[in-house]
Amino acid sequence: MKGILLAGGRGTRLGACTWVTSKQLLPVYDKPMIYHPLSTLMLAGIQDIIIVCDADQEQQYETLLGNGSQLGLRLTYRSQDKPRGIADALIVSGNDIAGSKTCLILGDNIFHGQGFVDYLRQGAALTEGAIIFGYPVADPQHYGVVQFDDSGKVISLEEKPQSPRSNMAVPGLYFYDEHALEYARELTPSARGELEITDLNKRYLAEGTLTVIDFGRGMAWLDTGSPEALLKASQYVETIQARQGYYLACIEEIAWRMGFITLEEFTQSVKRYPGTQYGTYIATLAAEATHD
Ligand code: TTP
Repeated sequence: MKGILLAGGRGTRLGACTWVTSKQLLPVYDKPMIYHPLSTLMLAGIQDIIIVCDADQEQQYETLLGNGSQLGLRLTYRSQDKPRGIADALIVSGNDIAGSKTCLILGDNIFHGQGFVDYLRQGAALTEGAIIFGYPVADPQHYGVVQFDDSGKVISLEEKPQSPRSNMAVPGLYFYDEHALEYARELTPSARGELEITDLNKRYLAEGTLTVIDFGRGMAWLDTGSPEALLKASQYVETIQARQGYYLACIEEIAWRMGFITLEEFTQSVKRYPGTQYGTYIATLAAEATHD
């Protein structure tokens, strides 16, 4: 399975903060936002990842993450000449994903919680169709919304409905079989001029191969696209890290725990973060593991 990480977009709601840089490079407390969706793909066991971004910002992403070898990853950068929509990322990835299953994640979505890795394993084990998720929110009108019948069967999917039929939003994490590229190429732009991911999911629904898994209450799903949401996400990360002592989205730690890099490589990665608490965290974990 290949990962597609969406790191483009306009970032309109963040105003001047995104005039000269990409939203996904802005900090969520102590790390660039992109560390979070990258962590999610890595926790799903995915090592081949395509980062889709604006041509102007490709260099910045490459400076930050390189070719990914320091994390045991193979990162490829593909540019979107304009934000044509989330489903467009499949088309932009084109040949890179031909014949592959894919996991697509939005660069401004953060997931955290008990059992999350099990959900990722379910997604990564997909054999046919698509797996997406549902999460109860107070403001479903801003998201794709899924409606289930009494037996748990999906009966509708709508993008940003004015009168939502349920409070179940669809988070920005989608697993697809190898037909996604072909289906995405058949989509037509919506009224707002974008290739909508909800339309792709509807295609799978029509084929009878869409599975929607309810995340339930035990998960945190944060989207960081507005100033308030970005602040809240930073506060969330700070609170959990300070309380537990474990870091969220420490990509080097995940690479090591997933077996993508050795303990020696993990230990060496501290050199990239001199003078930071993040670096101290890596050094402490590496020292503990060395003495075990
Ligand atoms: P959105 O939050 O829908 O859009 P945006 O990031 O442009 O922000 P705003 O609405 O404030 O203008 O995008 C969701 C994610 O998908 C985000 O991480 C950016 C990314 N994205 C792309 O990479 N390409 C695209 O064409 C679009 C629409 C979004």
